[in-house]
Amino acid sequence: MLYSEKVMDHFRNPRNVGEIPDADGVGQVGNAKCGDIMRMTLKIDDGIISDVKFTTFGCGSAIATSSMATELIKGKPLSQALELTNQAVVEALDGLPAYKLHCSVLAEEAVKAAIKDYYDRNGIAYDPDLFRDCGDCEGCMS
Ligand code: FES
Repeated sequence: MLYSEKVMDHFRNPRNVGEIPDADGVGQVGNAKCGDIMRMTLKIDDGIISDVKFTTFGCGSAIATSSMATELIKGKPLSQALELTNQAVVEALDGLPAYKLHCSVLAEEAVKAAIKDYYDRNGIAYDPDLFRDCGDCEGCMS
């Protein structure tokens, strides 16, 4: 089977879909390889991601990886969410076919863009290296 059961589960029944209306951080990124778009909204309380929602105009793998990414960062401190890598998301889903790996980048970059937006809005200093453009996306850091 091409896709793991976890990928199919998160694709058919994605978690945390939607948009937080009064979000503290918003990240929208585009995938340069396919043109798909992902939007992530965060609610942040005392440095903890108390809520997260996403919407995507993207493929099934983008939906599944974003859904898993939201589960992995919900309730976590920002510092931990910033360490989330697309590889960790893919592992949590029991893998993706190699040619769909680029789809998982969208989730990681959307999380980072939303956290950066939160820092910028609140004048919180950060290490710009944390938000280095990986080169796989378009627009996430602008
Ligand atoms: Fe665009 Fe998967 S093909 S994110």
